[in-house]
Amino acid sequence: MEKRRILTGDRPTGKLHLGHYVGSIQNRVRLQHEYECFFIIADLHTMTTQPEKHYIEAIAGNTRELVLDYIACGIDPDVSPIYLQSAVHEVYEMNLLFEMLVTVPRLQRIPSLKDMARSAELTEMPFGLLGYPILQAADILMPRAHLVPVGKDNESHVELTREIARRFNYLYGEVFPVPDVMVGEVGSLMGTDGSAKMSKSLNNAIYLSDSPKTVEKKVMSMYTDPNRVRADIPGRVEGNPVFVYHDAFNPDREEIADLKERYRKGAVGDVEVKQKLVGALNAFLDPIRERRERAAEISGYVDEVIYEGTLKARQEAGETLQLMKKAMGLSGVWNKISRKAEKARKSRSS
Ligand code: TRP
Repeated sequence: MEKRRILTGDRPTGKLHLGHYVGSIQNRVRLQHEYECFFIIADLHTMTTQPEKHYIEAIAGNTRELVLDYIACGIDPDVSPIYLQSAVHEVYEMNLLFEMLVTVPRLQRIPSLKDMARSAELTEMPFGLLGYPILQAADILMPRAHLVPVGKDNESHVELTREIARRFNYLYGEVFPVPDVMVGEVGSLMGTDGSAKMSKSLNNAIYLSDSPKTVEKKVMSMYTDPNRVRADIPGRVEGNPVFVYHDAFNPDREEIADLKERYRKGAVGDVEVKQKLVGALNAFLDPIRERRERAAEISGYVDEVIYEGTLKARQEAGETLQLMKKAMGLSGVWNKISRKAEKARKSRSS
């Protein structure tokens, strides 16, 4: 039986952090053999808020870093293609065809787009940013994916993708599966400063490529329970980022239970809790660091991965676009006209 398919990926804006890992990467690594996976480097999506040339010039470097992160986490590019979105022109065409199936008010109700405009300090919504989730639908429907593992912030985009797939199938016939969304166990991981989301722009992230020393520095200065000015004061475990990270990354459940119990009683200092977290995080990151180094050592390896993956994606995209145009009767329009024109040409020249 043919495997069901996954499509997911990221914008190439920098290195991945722990929040990406628990939000989505973990699911990808876990499912890569059960599903046929396609991983997109969504560089066109970065242009929805950053169209300036110097941003475009940074894409190649950021893409290499991102792919190194994927490989470091255990994604096997020999099994699953990793491809560059902007090099698959069929997706631009699909995007336009899907735009006919979505209304402007529907897009205006998607909260993540306003958030993105705000954090990019755009006072008015660019047309391309409003269309961000339609382009994402084109990505997802390109390989006719069944499942989309993403972070919580992308859930509403996959919901729109489902609507587009249904509408397309209703108007033109069954071409697309209606894809399911899968959000990570820790939908969105809090930052080291205790704010709701780990993010580069908030400067509260621990990166998968951080050195053991950097991890130690970041953890030791983490926000904890602000009311607990001394180690003998009972502390709050719930919503405390130090314990949220222990739960997410420390496999030693007994150690966590013991630390929590003592923390609640005021019988353990922040320093001990943090030192144990440093140990757990570095143990978790060590094999990731090692795989990253090994892949980075081989000259041209990452570029080859992207190149081969993109060729595979193009192949797939060509097939889907043809299916779409055929179902829509759009290829038929051109076929009729070109056939007649060729005949007319021939009869005139004979
Ligand atoms: N929107 C994703 C992000 O937040 C990137 C992305 C683009 C994506 N196309 C996708 C994710 C398709 C999953 C599937 O960075």
